[in-house]
Amino acid sequence: AQAEKEGYPHFMLKEIYEQPRAVRDTIRGRLSMTTGQVSLPDLKLSEEELLKIQRVVIASCGTSWHASLVAKFMIERLARLPVEVDYASEFRYRKPILGKTDLGILVSQSGETADTLAAQAEMIAHAMPTLAVCNVIGSAIPRRALGSISTNAGPEIGVASTKAFTAQLAALFLFSVYLAQIRNTLSSEECYRLLSALGELPNQIDAVLRSAAPVCERLAKEFYGAEDSLFLGRGIHYPIALEGALKLKEISYIHAEGYPAGEMKHGPNALIDETLPVVCVATKDPNDPESVLKYEKTLSNIQEVTARNGRVIAVACENDQEISRLVEHVIFIPSTVEALLPILEVVPLQLFAYYIAVERGCDVDQPRNLAKSVTVE
Ligand code: G6P
Repeated sequence: AQAEKEGYPHFMLKEIYEQPRAVRDTIRGRLSMTTGQVSLPDLKLSEEELLKIQRVVIASCGTSWHASLVAKFMIERLARLPVEVDYASEFRYRKPILGKTDLGILVSQSGETADTLAAQAEMIAHAMPTLAVCNVIGSAIPRRALGSISTNAGPEIGVASTKAFTAQLAALFLFSVYLAQIRNTLSSEECYRLLSALGELPNQIDAVLRSAAPVCERLAKEFYGAEDSLFLGRGIHYPIALEGALKLKEISYIHAEGYPAGEMKHGPNALIDETLPVVCVATKDPNDPESVLKYEKTLSNIQEVTARNGRVIAVACENDQEISRLVEHVIFIPSTVEALLPILEVVPLQLFAYYIAVERGCDVDQPRNLAKSVTVE
């Protein structure tokens, strides 16, 4: 096993560092910059069939559920199609209203999660076409699906999912742009801007790994004694707050809660004191007015935390001087188009959780009570 870790102390750290490669392999061959087109040969759904779809319904669990929440923002914003996201374990038990103009998407690293399989069966029983976004080729979910977009992250060993997550986001982004092209909801200039941003992403993840790792290691030494923490984000960044909180709680056993930044005033503000670490995702695409607006709103939510002496750690874009003046700690990432920012934001949150767990002496690759693949309902 030591050899398989290729010199890294844990599989999780190795897999965090494999993310530039995982994303590169997931977009390879599916994106042509010369034609400005996405091609998804395994999709198995014709343009005609896709044009009949009136709603997308996604079911998944854990980290894959967070990727699905990000996909809701991507698909709704880029392809203007309504999207519902369910926990697979909740899906069947509320008698969902489904039909053949709905497209079902199952997002799963293993392709074997029992709840997600059961949700897929429910979709198929309602004559819905299903699409699998899975990392293990030949696993149960893609075998039962009509179409498939594989995430090519390679085998993931650490129980806490990292590279499979960023690969899922890349695959779901490709699908969103593909849908947008078919449905004619984006100009060709806009598509070009999105796809070239995707092409640059692997190098940007590399840059984040290099710049953020030492910062996260230092922050971990300061915050590892915390027993509670909050993670905040707004819009497409909210699922990343959830994912950051999940990473921290599952491997370090520190209680962590992800919350929409704008909801703090309806409860969690009561928890803030000078001991509480509050991790805030506050990034923006400066070329996108909606993204900037959301950032400004998040900034005022951060001010509410600092006014109560909460200890803010912000994830922000390079050159953001405004935020540096406002908060104690900032982890910088490069900027990109709004729909791809989540892929860069999550990397420092993975590293933060990792270094804290190491500092606390936890079994990073095999947290207590958890399994990599959950094949019981
Ligand atoms: C388990 C794993 C998580 C994973 C979840 C869903 O809880 O520990 O890392 O996100 O299952 O697994 P899947 O294979 O369906 O993505």
